[in-house]
Amino acid sequence: MTDEERHDGDGSTRLTVSYGINGKVSAREIDPSESLLDDLRARGFTGAHAGCEHGVCGACTVLVDGEPVRSCIVLSVQVQGAAVETVEGLGTVDRPSDLQQAFSQCRGLQCGFCTPGFLMLATALLRRDPTPDHEAIREAVSSNLCRCTGYHSIVEAIGRVSGTPRSSHDRG
Ligand code: FES
Ligand code: FES
Repeated sequence: MTDEERHDGDGSTRLTVSYGINGKVSAREIDPSESLLDDLRARGFTGAHAGCEHGVCGACTVLVDGEPVRSCIVLSVQVQGAAVETVEGLGTVDRPSDLQQAFSQCRGLQCGFCTPGFLMLATALLRRDPTPDHEAIREAVSSNLCRCTGYHSIVEAIGRVSGTPRSSHDRG
């Protein structure tokens, strides 16, 4: 048994899991079977949404050490010591990031349920490639589902931040 591990009288095990969230270290005692999504939400970071909870929709996407992951299918214990980034780290209602402003201006969201996941995907893309062409943007966002926008406005929003010219397909 480690210092971080505790066995309760009922046979259950609790672990203290610690990792960075948007630049600040956070520690919490969890059930080892807890998903990163549930753990983040329990720690007060509710921006990652629980959609399908089967790794399909991407609404729960966060960055772990800079890479997009579906937090519903990752165990919290797997990110011990890692740097996790959530949508709360991008900006605030009063001070939205350029990407968040572009989503708003380009109508890249309607109900908004999928938006945190798309914002995190786009953040990872723009760090990797600050000037992606439309194909690269489309490919990056194709892993997540949006039931409202038809995706064009999401691609346009990311393209606006990166300075990617609108394609004739998107002007339609
Ligand atoms: S809620 Fe995680 S992929 Fe759908
Ligand atoms: S804006 Fe509603 S699901 Fe994408």
